[in-house]
Amino acid sequence: MAEGANNISAGGVQPPSPPAPDPRLPLTPMQVFKLKKNWKGVKRRLEDTGVEMLIRLFRLEPSAQAQFKNIRHLESEDKLRMSEDLEKHAGRLMATLDDIVNNIDNVDYALSKMPTVAQQDVQFQGFTANQLALIEQPFLDAVRIILDDRYTENMDTIYRILIKFILQHLVNTTR
Ligand code: HEM
Repeated sequence: MAEGANNISAGGVQPPSPPAPDPRLPLTPMQVFKLKKNWKGVKRRLEDTGVEMLIRLFRLEPSAQAQFKNIRHLESEDKLRMSEDLEKHAGRLMATLDDIVNNIDNVDYALSKMPTVAQQDVQFQGFTANQLALIEQPFLDAVRIILDDRYTENMDTIYRILIKFILQHLVNTTR
């Protein structure tokens, strides 16, 4: 057999095998592929997703709203929805998540973002790492609302794994 014949298939030279998945990432390469593709629907409406998420966070834990200095005085959901300040927060928060999702399979990069996010949060008076878990369900609800029928059962599984992974690492960096 000629040298290098192992790399030759009937159709020609085989592509190099993909790098082994990072064992720290609880998603399979196929789930990462599906996530990145599906996330494009969220990316197109990043601020809307963030506003939905924050509104649901405040529904779940009304006291959390008081920690956001520019929006703590807004006393109804309608006012929150119309607030530019809420939209700005939502946009910045979602931009961080967008960066993490787009680079989720570059685990070193994704994890390198966690300390900055954790610092941005813990510097606020009264904020505790325990509060981070509060965002899990609001995040899932917001993504489901924005994606509508593109939010399938399979994607639900993937988004649950994703947000748990992110929150776990955020909490770890605040310790
Ligand atoms: C996935 C989880 C989270 C991410 C990625 C995240 C990200 C961020 C970012 C990027 C900022 C700075 C941008 C800005 O102030 O507009 C911020 C600020 C803040 N975050 Fe978070 N956050 C998360 C979860 C939470 C949760 C669960 C709470 C409260 C229960 C919270 C409370 C706050 C507060 C109070 C601020 C400061 C707002 C202000 O300046 O008034 N965050 N967060």
